[in-house]
Amino acid sequence: MKTNRSLVSVEDLSTEELMDLFKLSTDMDRDLRSGKRLTEMQGKIMATLFYEPSTRTRLSFESAMRRLGGSVISVADPRSSSAAKGESLADSIRVVSSYSDLIIIRHPLEGAAKLASRFSSVPVINAGDGSGQHPTQTLLDLYTIHREFGRIDDLTITVLGDLKYGRTTHSLLLALARFEVRVNLVSPPILKVPSHILDRVKSSLQMVETDSLESVIEDTDVLYVTRIQKERFADMNEYRSVIGSYSVVRETVDLMKQQSIILHPLPRVDEIDENVDNDKRARYFEQAAYGVPVRMALIHKILE
Ligand code: CP
Repeated sequence: MKTNRSLVSVEDLSTEELMDLFKLSTDMDRDLRSGKRLTEMQGKIMATLFYEPSTRTRLSFESAMRRLGGSVISVADPRSSSAAKGESLADSIRVVSSYSDLIIIRHPLEGAAKLASRFSSVPVINAGDGSGQHPTQTLLDLYTIHREFGRIDDLTITVLGDLKYGRTTHSLLLALARFEVRVNLVSPPILKVPSHILDRVKSSLQMVETDSLESVIEDTDVLYVTRIQKERFADMNEYRSVIGSYSVVRETVDLMKQQSIILHPLPRVDEIDENVDNDKRARYFEQAAYGVPVRMALIHKILE
């Protein structure tokens, strides 16, 4: 992987680079578990600019940088930054890139990370741009699948939920398109994958679109569940029409293969019942924990 390069879309990474990142993530995970002190990012500063709420992405990036011996400066709430005074994103990025070696940005507008990468003098990582993409979430999603199955090819992956606004599902589909997988897209009719994403993956992916989880659950190896993205709906009546339209409960899991897994980028609201958490197939908290070693590997690759 080339150093000093921004990561805006998951398509910015080749399959070889993904696999290389996974190897390094496993090394990082081993180092973390052994308590080894890492210092390779000593003297480096990472800026996290979060214009939207986050628990996992911001804190796992910050933990990753500190675990590597680097430092972090952060805007966790845009109301505390000069964005609240009307400063443009371009100006903020020009300035923050002169204070840091790497910028991690989350923003409500699709395309914001791409714009930031144009104005930054240091690499920019997209930590979620509106309903666009969330490429580093996909890295840890694929890493979890690869760890669990030893491969990504030849699996049936069912993506359930808000496929219209869910940026994690967009990045995931774009990444899965380079593997030999079968994909079931399960959503309420008004929350289907947007055509601009479908058009990019339909020639490479074997896909089924349905609103019936029951029709595909028994063949599923990976059930990837997502939250309805309430904050993206312009019309709250439309949101209310899909509340509670799907839920993974004990009875759903009972239909699944013993060797299958359930993932969720989190946060969840009510789309996976808490009774499912103790099932061995529920892997979403392990998936979230991999956020640290995977992001350590990514920071290392970009700044090494
Ligand atoms: N998965 C994810 O992006 O979580 P946060 O919104 O908490 O960062």
